[in-house]
Amino acid sequence: PTRVLTGITTSGTPHLGNYVGAIRPAVAASRAPGVESFYFLADYHALIKVQEPARVQRSTLEIAATWLACGLDPDKVWFYRQSDIPEIPELTWLLTCVAGKGLLNRAHAYKAAVDKNREAGEDDDAGISAGLFMYPVLMAADILLFGAHKVPVGRDQIQHIEMARDFGQRFNHLYGEHFVLPEAAIEEHVATLPGLDGRKMSKSYDNVIPLFAPRETLRKLIYSIVTDSRAPGEPKDAGSSNVFQLYQAFASAEETEAMRGAFAAGIAWGEAKQALFERIDAEVAPLREKYEALIAEPAKIEAILRAGAQRLRERYAAPRLRALREAVGLRDLA
Ligand code: TYM
Repeated sequence: PTRVLTGITTSGTPHLGNYVGAIRPAVAASRAPGVESFYFLADYHALIKVQEPARVQRSTLEIAATWLACGLDPDKVWFYRQSDIPEIPELTWLLTCVAGKGLLNRAHAYKAAVDKNREAGEDDDAGISAGLFMYPVLMAADILLFGAHKVPVGRDQIQHIEMARDFGQRFNHLYGEHFVLPEAAIEEHVATLPGLDGRKMSKSYDNVIPLFAPRETLRKLIYSIVTDSRAPGEPKDAGSSNVFQLYQAFASAEETEAMRGAFAAGIAWGEAKQALFERIDAEVAPLREKYEALIAEPAKIEAILRAGAQRLRERYAAPRLRALREAVGLRDLA
């Protein structure tokens, strides 16, 4: 079967960008015939950004409840927490020893942190942890351990998947064909969902719309989206509008074309935002209800995650690591 794998970092509350970029396509993919899916909570990755234990735990619960509310079936899909699989950090070390440092120097997240230091007149690496630098290697271990063919992600993650291919290829070259080389699966029309201010929707920009914000909060947030100052009746440019891009991510092709026409005909911003709110709420409201019920039962969620990790270790992670340890010349622990 085709193996599909993706993760979400447990560093905050899930937002519409996570939903359209990863969760919605991943749940749809998991229902296709001939697909084996792996969806997980990247809590080791969260430690790179968040050093508040309570926040990591809360976010883990929220993101798990979100996956389940969005239709993930834990009996049909591998669903687990990254830190429940000790084989992942173990593989991270094996990959660290074949990963090119020069390649890691070029990772976007690391480079952005260095650029920020330079602008502030600081040393290049001031305040940057080795964890941030190694982020792509941990992510490669997530993907390569389970032999994923396809990784549904937003555009911001493409570079990480290319790096996973690179590390996997080097390992294969040195030790034989152990790893499948993964490919990113990007939904073209929602590759980067804009946030309230028009930049990429991201926790780090503080411009997110939480996926399960209460209805009235959702309405207020949508009305606060930044637009240009064109008056009602003046034609508006759909191509450059974040209201339009958000609408497109939630509407059918016909609805999107009708909205493009309305933009050209000068729809008022208030009216466009109302249509956007109604479209998003129609899709999210039934999921929000399930989410509220799930989040009220953390013990149930915990049991699902533990059972998932245990089965996955037995079925894949432990035997895979055994073969990889042997391949590089380490002793079999069994
Ligand atoms: P994270 O937690 O930042 O985001 C989770 C997923 O949501 C997508 N996404 C977006 N998509 C479209 N528009 C946006 N504005 C937007 N914001 C976020 C991301 O592209 C991602 O698909 N490193 C990953 C987590 C991870 C992972 C993995 C993913 C760890 N290991 C292995 C795939 C495979 C991350 O931080 O995603």
